[in-house]
Amino acid sequence: MKAQLDNISVAAAQEIASASDKASLETVRIKYLGKKGALTAILRGMGALTPEERPVIGAYANTVRANIEAFLEEKGASLASEELKNALVKEKLDVTMPAKVKTVGKLHPITQVENRMKEIFVGLGFDIVEGPEVESAYNNFDALNAPADHPSRDFQDTFYINDTTLLRTQTSPVQIRAMKTMTPPIRIISPGRVYRCDEVDATHSPMFHQLEGLVIDKNITLGDLKGLLELWAKEMFGSDTKTRFRPHNFPFTEPSAEVDVSCFVCGGKGCRLCKGEGWIELLGAGLVHPNVLKAGGIDPEVYSGLAFGMGIERVVMTSYGIDDMRHLYENDIRFLGQF
Ligand code: DAH
Repeated sequence: MKAQLDNISVAAAQEIASASDKASLETVRIKYLGKKGALTAILRGMGALTPEERPVIGAYANTVRANIEAFLEEKGASLASEELKNALVKEKLDVTMPAKVKTVGKLHPITQVENRMKEIFVGLGFDIVEGPEVESAYNNFDALNAPADHPSRDFQDTFYINDTTLLRTQTSPVQIRAMKTMTPPIRIISPGRVYRCDEVDATHSPMFHQLEGLVIDKNITLGDLKGLLELWAKEMFGSDTKTRFRPHNFPFTEPSAEVDVSCFVCGGKGCRLCKGEGWIELLGAGLVHPNVLKAGGIDPEVYSGLAFGMGIERVVMTSYGIDDMRHLYENDIRFLGQF
């Protein structure tokens, strides 16, 4: 029995020495000292010993147990300090490392200006509706009173998909869609992308953004149009802003006007932004042509309407003094981050 205890002592010492972590050390402890462990098994067999042998073997077994416990403790401590050392090396903090700069994204200036416009018009009771970018030639031209020989219908100006389908050249076709699906009074704006066969340069792009506006009700007059756009301009560019209506010609409005706002840099005196004019041309507008009302299913004898449309890039560029449209599409963060 003594020899058995010696074997246990040696084997346990070896296994403890080679344990590489706390878990394997615990396995060794259970194997030798646990309830079903090797040492416990021997102590159970002590009943078979003579009364003289019992205290001797008992004392010996206690020594073996104490030794194993001491080994376990020693090994446990050394494993713990090793683990700590490893952790310290692995989790070392270099307090001189530069901090990570968290950058927060921003909305594109076109989106910012579009959002501001929407906010103003929604505040005036307008609904926002959207139309498709792939549009019928009928909605984009015919229903908008643009005759078959109108220059804008030319292949050189318009991206046609086939004879009857095209990439809309303006947001105005949404007027037709709105009139056909809504009943007056109608008060809508419609922002979105439009396409034209233009070479890219400082002031042109084959894709750009417009915002269309349409109001249909009884007794809508030129006075409503002027009042509405003047209010919008003051909200958009400041309360000192003035507006100027110049006669113009669009197929879908009668009368038609181009609308200028007083230069928000010089206030009208003339500067670099307004090229000495004091005014900046910003939008097209007019009273909806009776033919357009009819195409939208609305009786021009009962209702009248006002409409306007503007290029969002143009508003962005004049608002921020950007002289080259290409900056808006190149998506250079150093440029876009300034707005
Ligand atoms: N669709 C015109 C364009 O692309 C802009 C425009 C002018 C829209 C007058 C209108 C309007 O609704 O009444 O140049």
